[in-house]
Amino acid sequence: MIKYHDSKKIFHLFNREVSYLIRIMENGQLENLYYGKAIHDREDFSHFHQEEMRSQMSVCIPEPGILSMQYTKQEYPVYGTGDYRSPALSVRQENGSSIVNFTYVSHEIMKGKRSLAPLPAVYTENEDEAETLEIRLHDEVMDTDLFLSYTIYAEYPVIARNTRIVHHGTEKITLERVMSASVEFSDMDFEMVHLSGAWSRERYVKNRKLEMGIQAVQGLNGTCSGAEHNPFLALKRPDATESQGEVYGFSLVYSGNFLAQTEVSTFDMTRVMLGIHPEGFSWTLNQGEEFQSPEAVLVYSRDGLTGMSQTYHRLYRTRLMRGVWRDRPRPILLNNWEATYFDFNEEKILKIASKAKEVGAELFVLDDGWFGARNDDYRGLGDWYVNLDKLPDGISGLSKKIEAMGLKFGLWVELEMVNKDSDLYRAHPDWLIGAPGRFESHARHQHVLDFSRKEVVDYIYEMISKVIEGASISYIKWDMNRYMSEPYSRGADASSQGMVMHRYILGVYDLYTRLTQRFPEILFESCASGGARFDPAMLYFAPQTWTSDDTDASERLKIQYGTSYVYPLVSMGSHVSAVPNHQLHRVTPLATRANVAYFGTFGYELDLNLLTVEEIEQVKQQIAFMKEYRELIQIDGDFYRILSPFEGNETAWIVVSQDKKQAVAGFYQRLNKVNGSWLNLKLTGLDSEVLYEVEYADKKYQAYGDELMYAGIPFSRELLNQMGGDFSSLIFVLKAAA
Ligand code: DGJ
Repeated sequence: MIKYHDSKKIFHLFNREVSYLIRIMENGQLENLYYGKAIHDREDFSHFHQEEMRSQMSVCIPEPGILSMQYTKQEYPVYGTGDYRSPALSVRQENGSSIVNFTYVSHEIMKGKRSLAPLPAVYTENEDEAETLEIRLHDEVMDTDLFLSYTIYAEYPVIARNTRIVHHGTEKITLERVMSASVEFSDMDFEMVHLSGAWSRERYVKNRKLEMGIQAVQGLNGTCSGAEHNPFLALKRPDATESQGEVYGFSLVYSGNFLAQTEVSTFDMTRVMLGIHPEGFSWTLNQGEEFQSPEAVLVYSRDGLTGMSQTYHRLYRTRLMRGVWRDRPRPILLNNWEATYFDFNEEKILKIASKAKEVGAELFVLDDGWFGARNDDYRGLGDWYVNLDKLPDGISGLSKKIEAMGLKFGLWVELEMVNKDSDLYRAHPDWLIGAPGRFESHARHQHVLDFSRKEVVDYIYEMISKVIEGASISYIKWDMNRYMSEPYSRGADASSQGMVMHRYILGVYDLYTRLTQRFPEILFESCASGGARFDPAMLYFAPQTWTSDDTDASERLKIQYGTSYVYPLVSMGSHVSAVPNHQLHRVTPLATRANVAYFGTFGYELDLNLLTVEEIEQVKQQIAFMKEYRELIQIDGDFYRILSPFEGNETAWIVVSQDKKQAVAGFYQRLNKVNGSWLNLKLTGLDSEVLYEVEYADKKYQAYGDELMYAGIPFSRELLNQMGGDFSSLIFVLKAAA
C-alpha cells in the first residue's frame, strides 16, 4: 500500500481505488504530486512537478534553480517561505520570528495505525488492514520535529492524516496554527459541498462553485463542532452526481473549534486544509514537549456523493465507533422530554414507561429535570444528585422499577455545565469559564464548567459515577446546551490562555474515556441542543448522536439526508414525536413520522397514553417493523440517497443489504398535488439479476432489480391521498424471491 521510490524520492500510497503521491523536493520540503484515482505504481512521477520562472516569484533554492513555494503544490505549507497563500503551520519563536523551514529527515512505513489517544481517531483491528507512513521533518533553527502521518486502508479509498510537533530546542515556541492536513490540486474545477445550518435545521446540504480566493466553513464556539457548520467539506467535480463522478471528502475527527478551508490561487490551484481553527489558539511548547493534532479523514470517490458517503459510513461505523454497541442494533427507546419537559414525578414516569413497554419499546430514557432543584432551566446543573421530591426512591429505585417492567433504563446528563443557582457553583465559583472583571454571558441561564482543568473533570467524574453505580443504567444521553463565551480559564496562567479551548475538548474526551472504560456496557448518545455536536470524534465515544431537536418528520428529511453525507444511519438518533409538532406546530401522519425515524436509531418522544387505541395499534406495528429491519438498516445495509429534499417536493432513499437480497426504501412527499400525474420511483443499489418480492401499502408483486432501478415503481397520487395527503409517505420492502 505504501512504496518509497528512493531514486526520485517519491512516496506512493495506493490501493485499488486511490493513489496519493508525495515528493521530497530539492529544498527538502514536500510536494503533493497527485491525489486521485489509483494509477500504476512506478519509479518516477517527477514529471508531475510544475515549475517555471514567473515575475515577482520568490525562489527558495540557490540560483540557477527556480523552485518557488508559491507555485508548488505543497504537502504541508508553512509560513514565511515566499508562498503567499494560507499556511498549514505557523510557529512564533522567542525572537518574534515566525519563519520556519521544515525539511525531510527520515520516514517510517509501518503496518496498521498508531492510536492518537487521548484524541479519538479511526483504528485498525488487525495490522494488515492498513499501512502508515510517518515522515519526519526538522527545523534546525528551532530544533523542532514535524511528523506528518498518513494511513491508507487496504479496502477503503481512505487516507487518514495527522500532524505532530515535537520540540527539542531550549527556547520555547508557540504554535499559532497547526492544520491536521493540507492537500493541493492543480485546478479549480470543483464545487464545494458543506453541511451548514443552525439549531433545529442542522446539516443542510450547501453547494457552491469554487472561485479564486478563500472559501471556508468554521466553528468557533469552543464547546462543540456546532450546529452552524459541520467539520467537513467535499470537493466535487461539477458533473459529479449522487452515483458517479469524482468527489473528495475531508472530515475532521474533532469536536472543538475547526477550520475547513479551500483557497484557489490566481493560477487556478486549489488548496484544501482542515484542522483546529487558529483563532484563539496558541499552544506553547517547551523543550521536550509535543503537540498532536486531531485526525483528518480524506475519502476519494469515483462513484459520486453516494460513493463518498458509503465509505465514511463503513469506516466510521466499523473503525471509529467502538465498544459493545458498535455492532449491535440499537434499542427502541421512549424518551420523556417532549412528553413532560420538567413537569414529572415518579408516578407520571412509570405510567409513560408502562405504556412504552406495552407497545414493545425496550428502553426508557429519563431526560432533563431529575436532579438538584431542576424544575426549570434556571437552576440545578452541576448538582448531580437526585431530586427526591420528584423521585422519592431515587434514580436507583426508579431504574429498578422500570427494569422490573422489562425495560432498560437510561438517564440524561449535562456534565459540562453549571447554573449559578446550584450548590456546585456556590462551592466553586471559579470553576466557570469566564474572565475576571468581565461580564459572564449566559445561555439558557447556564455557564460552561472549565473542563480545561483536571480537578473539575475529576470532580464531575466522581459525582456522576456514584449516580451510575447506585442504579441500573443501560444508556446515557450526554447533553451539552451552550457555546462558550469569554473563553478564559481562571486555572491557567497568562501564557496558557490560548490553550484553554483545545484543553476543554481534551477534558471532554478524558471524561468520556473514563466513563466508557468504567461502564463499558452503557450505550452513550451524545447531544448538544439537538445536533450541534454531530461530529466523528463523538462517535468514537458515543456511537449515536441526537440528530436534531427538530422532530418534525418533514424537516427531519432534510436533516437526516444532509447528515448522511458523512454519518451512518446507526449514528442518527431519530424519534417519533407528537403532533402538532413542538418545534413547527405542523401535523404529519403518524406513519410518516415513523417512516422517517426508521432510518436512524428509532424511538418515541411523546406520551403514548395520549394516543388513541388505533394509534397504539399502529405504534405496535411500527415497533415490530423496526425490530425486523433494524439489523439491515443500522448494521448490514448500504444507504443510497435517491431524491433530495433540497431539490424538490419528494424525498426518497433506500438501504440495501450487503448481499443485495433485502432492501427497505422510503418515499416521502411534502405537499400533495391535486389531480396530479403518476409518480415513478426508480430504486438504486439493487442487483439487476435478482428477482425481488416488492411490498408497499397493500400492494405486492415481483420484479427484477433492473426493472426496479431503470423502469421504476409507478404509483398514483391517489395512493398518497390514502396515506394522508400532505406529508404522506410510503415504505417499500424488497426481498429476494425464494
Ligand atoms: C436539549 C436536547 O437536545 C433535548 O433533547 C433535551 O434533552 C433538552 N436539552 C433537555 O434540556
